[in-house]
Amino acid sequence: MKLHLRPFTENDLEALVNLANNPKIAANLTDQFPYPYTREHGVRFIEMVTQHEPTRIFALEFEGDFCGAVGLHPQTDIMRKNAELGYWVAEPFWGKGIATHAIRRMIDYGFQNFDIVRIFARPYGPNIASQKVLEKAGFKLEARLSKTIYKNEEFLDELIYAIRK
Ligand SMILES: CC(C)(COP(=O)(O)OP(=O)(O)OC[C@H]1O[C@@H](n2cnc3c(N)ncnc32)[C@H](O)[C@@H]1OP(=O)(O)O)[C@@H](O)C(=O)NCCC(=O)NCCS
Repeated sequence: MKLHLRPFTENDLEALVNLANNPKIAANLTDQFPYPYTREHGVRFIEMVTQHEPTRIFALEFEGDFCGAVGLHPQTDIMRKNAELGYWVAEPFWGKGIATHAIRRMIDYGFQNFDIVRIFARPYGPNIASQKVLEKAGFKLEARLSKTIYKNEEFLDELIYAIRK
């Protein structure tokens, strides 16, 4: 698999905005990832992710092309031994195993670089592709909360998947 995880740079802006501007991606992420996804959103995102040390959100590059992002969000206070995993792959690249590979690499990176014991992800009920990817990467379903999420004017189930160090 010719997949690289590397820090974002300003050169990713054009591809990021083109590929992120997709309602099928936004529908499965929080409202922090908007549709339409404008150049301004892209500029702010790249500014934010290039400030973290160590890097928390990586650009995905498949055979030389930018194709998405994967990131860890370390939690605070009583949840500080946990980090939330987030990811998206651009639609032209779906079904090639990219998300599964990216997640496996982030598990190793997360446990090596952060003082955490658990990585979790919270796909929405209808997002079967994401649930499959998490299961393939070794995550276990810990809980299914009923209709907790309000997204695009619909209530959705919240699934909690996790992997332990
Ligand atoms: C979910 C997502 C990351 C998957 O990326 P990907 O690189 O295509 O994933 P992979 O190729 O590694 O694996 C996808 C798996 O889901 C399966 N799949 C895809 N769509 C499916 C569907 N509608 N129903 C059932 N399985 C499905 C594929 O067959 C594949 O499984 P397989 O390898 O056993 O055949 C991508 O679709 C995406 O970015 N979606 C929008 C954003 C998102 O959902 N992010 C995650 C939020 S929790």
